[in-house]
Amino acid sequence: MTDRGSYDFGKLPCKEEEFRRLEEQALFFWSREKMLLSDSGLTESMRVLDIGCGQGIVADRIARELVPRGQVVGIEPDSSLRSMAEALAAQNQRLTVMPGDIYNLEQPDESFDFVYARLVFQHLKAPVEALREIHRVLKPGGIALIPDVDNGWLTLYPEPPGFSDMLRLAEKAQTSYGGDRFVGRKLAGYMGEAGFVNVATPVEVLTSARIGLDLFLKIITCFKILLLMRHNDKVEEDFFERICRFAREHNSHGWVGIFCARGVKNGGQ
Ligand SMILES: C[S@@+](CC[C@H](N)C(=O)[O-])C[C@H]1O[C@@H](n2cnc3c(N)ncnc32)[C@H](O)[C@@H]1O
Repeated sequence: MTDRGSYDFGKLPCKEEEFRRLEEQALFFWSREKMLLSDSGLTESMRVLDIGCGQGIVADRIARELVPRGQVVGIEPDSSLRSMAEALAAQNQRLTVMPGDIYNLEQPDESFDFVYARLVFQHLKAPVEALREIHRVLKPGGIALIPDVDNGWLTLYPEPPGFSDMLRLAEKAQTSYGGDRFVGRKLAGYMGEAGFVNVATPVEVLTSARIGLDLFLKIITCFKILLLMRHNDKVEEDFFERICRFAREHNSHGWVGIFCARGVKNGGQ
């Protein structure tokens, strides 16, 4: 049984909403993410593992646009998310999708050049254990890239009433399921503990000016509301609409940092 920590898609209320949010999040960031992947050392003939690949949108793009002479394997434990990834894989011979668990990968030792796990680590109970497993499947000289959030780098101003309280409550709910909303700042240390070298964590800042206020608010709020509902915390029914109305009326701006931790497995050329 795979431990999904604080992200168990099957247990979330309003799955369709979350499905669309993940989709938009993947599509809107792709142009920037593509550069991030290339700058991190991803090259065209690499074998890539995307762990917790969700609907497979990013894995599919990596296979089509960044590794035209390589191969991408997407691992996704949730069957509903995985079925969309499998549909993409059926149309893309460089993409394979399978079930799997980040703590106990079926892949052999030293079988990948590049491992990606996007927005997965904030949900894990045992991040160092997961990184040791990633380290195991990487070839010597292979690269791990782990982009994730840190609520210390989340600002919305002017801030709608009740917004900070909601954030604090959602942080607690996420912790209660084993997740960590402040994982971004910790990733570099975890990578060191797991044996990675040349570790660095540049921060990508997403802004409401860049992606539009509505999408920004959706990305920073909707999963937290679903988590609070799953946790049986009280959330007003119109909370999201109220936040959006306030932010539009007060011309709010927002910034959120994505910590992009990168480490290398010792050895290789
Ligand atoms: C927030 S979603 C991110 C999905 C995708 N990477 C993206 O960026 O759209 C977190 C993902 O982690 C997966 N996940 C949770 N626990 C996992 C585990 N133990 N092993 C592998 N994946 C896991 C979930 O099923 C989900 O697909």
